[in-house]
This record gives sequence, C-alpha cells and structure tokens, in this order.
Amino acid sequence: MSQSLRLQGRVALVTGGGSGIGQAAALAFARDGASVVVAGRREAALRDTVRLIHEQGGEALAVPTDVSDGGQVQALITATLTHFGRLDAAFNNAGVEGFSPISEMSEAEFDRVVATNLKGAWLSMKYELAAMTRAGHGGAIVNTSSWLTHGASVGSAAYSASKGGLDAMIRALALETGPHNIRINNVNPGIIDTPMAQRMGANEETLAPFVRLTPAGRVGKADDVGDVVAWLCSDEARFVTGQSLLVDGGFTIAGLR
Ligand SMILES: NC(=O)c1ccc[n+]([C@@H]2O[C@H](COP(=O)([O-])OP(=O)(O)OC[C@H]3O[C@@H](n4cnc5c(N)ncnc54)[C@H](O)[C@@H]3O)[C@@H](O)[C@H]2O)c1
Repeated sequence: MSQSLRLQGRVALVTGGGSGIGQAAALAFARDGASVVVAGRREAALRDTVRLIHEQGGEALAVPTDVSDGGQVQALITATLTHFGRLDAAFNNAGVEGFSPISEMSEAEFDRVVATNLKGAWLSMKYELAAMTRAGHGGAIVNTSSWLTHGASVGSAAYSASKGGLDAMIRALALETGPHNIRINNVNPGIIDTPMAQRMGANEETLAPFVRLTPAGRVGKADDVGDVVAWLCSDEARFVTGQSLLVDGGFTIAGLR
C-alpha cells in the first residue's frame, strides 16, 4: 500500500470537524484515503469541511451533532454505519474554552466545559467502541487533550481538569480495548493558531512569550496536529496505545523546566 493511501477503505469520524484542528484532521484522513464523517454543532462549518474534502477528491458526510448529548452521539454512529457501513477511526476533538479564576467561574460554566470536553469524549468513545467491538475489525481512537494537563495557566482549573480527565481515562480504556484490537490515544496540542486561540486573544504580540519558549520557534498550525492524528489512526502506530502525546514544538518541556 502506498504511503499516501494508508487509510484507504477505512471510515474515519471527526468531532469538532468544522474548524481548526478537527478540520485539519478531517482533511488529513481524506488525503490518506479514508471516507470521513464530519460532526459538530455548526452545520455550515461542517459543510465547509465536506466541500474541501470533495475538492481534494475524497468522500465525506456532515452530521450535525452536539457531543454532550448521548442521544445525538448514538445517532451520529448510526448515521456513520448507515452511510459508510463501518467505523475504523475516530477523532474526538470537539472542545470549548472556558478560562476564568474559580472565584469568577459559575457552576453552569464549569458544567459546560466538562460536558463537552470530558463527558462529550466519553460519550463518543462509548458508542464508537460499541460499534467497533460489534464489527470485530479493530480500530483506533484519538481524543484532543492539551498541554495544560502538564502545565497550568491562571483560570485554567476547569479546562485543565476536563483535559486531565481525558489523559486518565484513556489509560484505563486502553486496557479494556486492547483485546479487541482497538487502540486509544490522546494528542495534547500546545498553542495552535485556530479559531479557539483567536477567541482567546491570540495575536503576534500575545503569543510572543510562548514563541520565545518554544524550541520549534513558532506556535502550531492546525495541520501540525491533524497530521499526527492521521498517523496515530494508521497501522504505522499499531503498537501505540494509552498514550497522551504532546504536539507542541517542545513548548511544554521548555516552559516547565
Ligand atoms: N488551539 C489551541 O491552542 C488548543 C490547544 C490545546 C487543545 N486544544 C483543543 O483542540 C480542540 C479543537 O479546538 P480548536 O483549537 O481547533 O478550536 P475550534 O474552536 O476551531 O474547534 C472546536 C470545535 O468544537 C466544536 N464544538 C464545541 N462544542 C461542541 C459540542 N458540544 N458538540 C460538537 N462540537 C462542538 C466547535 O464548533 C468547533 O468546531 C479542542 O478540544 C480544544 O480544547 C486547542
């Protein structure tokens, strides 16, 4: 099999696939030959990703989904199996920011962050694993965690906890899924230039201190992460499971030394 078609014949699902890291991963999956299901809350953004995949000759389907709702996640898996017949790879990437000191964060805001970032990934894995296990052909799952599970920033308590929960969760799930030939890993991005980073005020000036601390000498681009996700879902990563992989240009080791 040629290197560029390492996911040929497979079906990959991406949540939060309408923008940023999710869109980059969806394009990487399609480039590697997979048919892609693009899920997320914003239908217009999903259609944009589907159009980009079609333009590069790939197959894709948009399925509007709120990952914090178990019924919608179940419907997403059903739509995937109905349309493409199987599910081989899943990237549970939908996430929300939510940064403020604990004294200023409401209970509702805490619940919103955890409902998408932690429970949303749990729900996604629950129903993806059921489909993969039932089919018996194995598979690979990747979730989006964060460099903040190693470090911290003021106001990151809820967000860090939601992502740290994911790092703990996959270690346990890797034990359950190994016998079914299903691998589970996380990517832990550093600072990546995406709509989320821009909403949080990222610009050349605010990012300069991070760039100074990053051995790679720049912040990340969405496809720096998307390409790693496609690799983790390929057979080239067949002996990698239960791992949380920093994709940060070295920022975390440099920033925390
Ligand atoms: N950009 C960074 O610096 C950075 C760093 C570490 C981790 N992350 C994580 O990367 C992931 C992708 O974020 P991004 O930076 O590409 O920003 P983004 O805002 O472009 O992507 C997040 C996507 O998730 C979707 N989404 C949010 N809530 C959802 C829900 N309940 N159901 C379905 N979809 C939902 C959004 O519509 C959006 O498309 C997130 O999990 C984020 O926490 C980002």
